[in-house]
Amino acid sequence: MKIHHIGYMVKNIKKSTAAFIRLGYDMEQDIQEDHNRKALIVFMVNDSYRIELVQPIDESSDYYPLLKKYRNSPYHICYCTEYLDKTIDDLRWGGYILVRPPEKAICLNGKRVAFLSCLGVELIELVEM
Ligand code: NI
Repeated sequence: MKIHHIGYMVKNIKKSTAAFIRLGYDMEQDIQEDHNRKALIVFMVNDSYRIELVQPIDESSDYYPLLKKYRNSPYHICYCTEYLDKTIDDLRWGGYILVRPPEKAICLNGKRVAFLSCLGVELIELVEM
């Protein structure tokens, strides 16, 4: 599967955005708020590489516990799939666990995403293209 982006869990999205701009990344859009997940999110690109910066808004965010573990570090790789539900089924047969069922990602123009996890790989995201 082709990689769509690498997700970073960040403490301060503005500081991190500025730091990645210095490395040659461009912002793909303005920083947006995902109300469902209580997080600020921005996508940035550098040639064919795309990163996603995720900052939990407060302690009530689902992502807050992850911030403790992955402060300013990568925490998932997102893969593109044409058929989200089928790919989830295939991966579950292969030992992956569905961590977060399919939902529309506000910051990806409503594209459906899901999160899975597996021993030896940890967290992955799938996005339906
Ligand atoms: Ni992501």
